[in-house]
Amino acid sequence: MSSKIPVSAKKFAIVRSGLVRTILAVALCAAPTAGLYAANTINGGKLYGQYCVGCHGPSGQGVMPGTPNFSRGDALLQPDNALLTVIKNGKNAMPGFQGAISDHDILDVIAYLRTLMH
Ligand code: HEC
Repeated sequence: MSSKIPVSAKKFAIVRSGLVRTILAVALCAAPTAGLYAANTINGGKLYGQYCVGCHGPSGQGVMPGTPNFSRGDALLQPDNALLTVIKNGKNAMPGFQGAISDHDILDVIAYLRTLMH
């Protein structure tokens, strides 16, 4: 009789490891959507036209003196997170957009800025 206990314990361990695998698989499926968010450059372009074009110009070359030339890649050689912080907080003559545009939408605008580089 007592020899049956290890067997069922073993079965339980197998079932449990299956459950752990399922949980891991679900976690792995969910993780990339958070880390590798596919930016929407169409939405970014719309928002750029609404909030940024007045100073940065339609091609990103800059209308207002002192603005970087995005078409040359000026100021874009930094990670998205750093750009997000600058756009949220503003910099010198540039106003911050925290509260006006969500972080998610700002990331779309950043992806759009990168399409202006050539
Ligand atoms: C009122 C004019 C104005 C508006 C509106 C504006 N900017 Fe700017 N932006 C500037 C100026 C001026 C600078 C240069 C700041 C400096 O380096 O002194 C700048 C700099 C930047 C930079 C470079 C930051 C860095 O790290 O050097 C980025 C990126 C940027 N703007 C993105 C945006 C985006 C995206 C929007 C719209 C959501 C926007 N700007 C709206 C004037 C503006």
